[in-house]
Amino acid sequence: MEVKRVGVVGAGTMGNGIAHVFARSGYQVLLCDVEQRFLDRALDTIGKNLDREVAKSKITADDKSSALKRIEPMLERRKLANCDFVVEAATEKFEIKSEIFRDLDRICPPEVILSSNTSSISITKLAALTKRPEKVIGMHFFNPVPVMKLVEVIRGLATSQETFELVRDLAVKLEKTPVEVNDAPGFVSNRVLMPLLNEAMYAVMEGVATPEAVDQVFKLGMAHPMGPLTLADFIGLDVCLDIMRVLHYGLGDPKYRPCPLLIKMVDAGRLGRKSGRGFYKYE
Ligand code: 3HC
Repeated sequence: MEVKRVGVVGAGTMGNGIAHVFARSGYQVLLCDVEQRFLDRALDTIGKNLDREVAKSKITADDKSSALKRIEPMLERRKLANCDFVVEAATEKFEIKSEIFRDLDRICPPEVILSSNTSSISITKLAALTKRPEKVIGMHFFNPVPVMKLVEVIRGLATSQETFELVRDLAVKLEKTPVEVNDAPGFVSNRVLMPLLNEAMYAVMEGVATPEAVDQVFKLGMAHPMGPLTLADFIGLDVCLDIMRVLHYGLGDPKYRPCPLLIKMVDAGRLGRKSGRGFYKYE
């Protein structure tokens, strides 16, 4: 099946980045969220991020305006019935994603592939909620989506080879590099990354070093573009906590226990960059 119209469910940080890269690559995008203000904010962010690309001469001003015209924001999920492919990029909670997958399965024609940008939730479990488990797959992008080259392509237990190949080829058309992984908590990326961020938080909590010092160690000693605490703030501390909980529950090993400081910060509403405060303060 040739994909022309792509549905993106969820217009948050990842959803707007995913809409951005599909629209920039010539796809029609139906961007769906539950409140108009989320859609307005997403379009504003996409416009600004396309401006960065114009400023760097990666695209022209005409490319920018045609990409924006290809994105149709909408509140009614049932309109996704016209899509050839769907990426779900909603909040990282199983109950929310399950409701969406059940609904998409009712709305979309049976040949349509339903993919999830989940960071850690089981693709096999999401697939089992639908009548098309062979057409359910993980398509995991990285933040900032317009910049990061990786797409983790995750096969659920029932994902067909045809589905896998279509998503792999789609990632290439978006100028990304697909990497195939099997379904397991956190896949590869977050199974390895999140314990690093969690451990950096333990180091701060135990007074081993300040957030600035921990970040300097990784930037200067290991050439990471961002230190682990800056990165945690960038990803969102609530997202980090949700992923640690999936790892802890799914792998059953105490080494994945979320750092108590992380839990406390999320409880306090210090969610990182998006809330103006996390390990650092943001204007
Ligand atoms: N949209 C478009 N372009 C953007 C952008 C955006 N949102 N953000 C940055 N850019 C571009 C800039 O224009 C710049 O382009 P250039 O190379 O042509 O000059 C380039 O990206 C670098 O940006 P800056 O110069 O502004 O800033 P930095 O050099 O500090 O880079 C960064 C910013 C790319 C975010 C870099 O710090 C980085 O790579 N950080 C690590 C990010 C990371 O690890 N992401 C993965 C998180 S994990 C995840 O997403 C998985 C999830 O499941 C949790």
